Amino acid sequence: MRKKGNEFGLLYGGRNYDIFATLLGFGHSYYEKAAGELPLEKGMKVLDLGCGTASLDIEIEKKAEHTCKVYGIDLSDTQLKYAHSKTKGMEEEISLYKGTMDELPFKNDAFDIVVTSVAFCETDEEVRRGSIKETSRVLRNGGYFVLIDCARPRMALTSAMLLPFFMLKTNEDNWNNTYVEICKNNGLMLDKETYLKSYIRCQLFKKE
Ligand SMILES: C[S@@+](CC[C@H](N)C(=O)[O-])C[C@H]1O[C@@H](n2cnc3c(N)ncnc32)[C@H](O)[C@@H]1O
Repeated sequence: MRKKGNEFGLLYGGRNYDIFATLLGFGHSYYEKAAGELPLEKGMKVLDLGCGTASLDIEIEKKAEHTCKVYGIDLSDTQLKYAHSKTKGMEEEISLYKGTMDELPFKNDAFDIVVTSVAFCETDEEVRRGSIKETSRVLRNGGYFVLIDCARPRMALTSAMLLPFFMLKTNEDNWNNTYVEICKNNGLMLDKETYLKSYIRCQLFKKE
């Protein structure tokens, strides 16, 4: 089977992922900020593509005062195993699935919000396009797609400092922001754009 993305296995996955992520500035405050960008309302159904260790899913539940139902999907057994241990006791609120973001095991119009945080940059062009198509299929009309990914840094100094990181994580889509066009072709219209960090862009698309 074709590789669907960088799967965070034993070395970079699970508890190690959370440690590395925190060292790189993706600690609790990042996830709190990311959850704050979601247009959440009580009782909503939310899907997280490439959910990793479920840090964002936990923050979404906190922000929604535990009234939402969050579904996370990820390729990696290591990530999911650790995500299960972090979400123990929250099984009614957070369901985790093993799978790829471009073949979603969900019905049409099933979600109010689909979110993805720094996971598109771990896949190839074909998977990203397939995933946006699938996102549009599983989102209800009027629902939102929140796409958080690496982007061309807004500050030159940050670009220089993070050059090694960017050489690994940039691609045509996030660097040139072709996401806007791809989403538009799938009925997802850009509603709002903001930055969570100088090099992390958060785009809110509405399904029309
Ligand atoms: C950098 S981590 C981000 C995890 C999480 N979203 C976060 O913000 O902490 C990228 C995640 O995407 C997952 N991934 C890569 N390709 C994928 C795919 N095709 N479908 C689902 N998950 C994928 C990896 O296993 C990894 O857990």
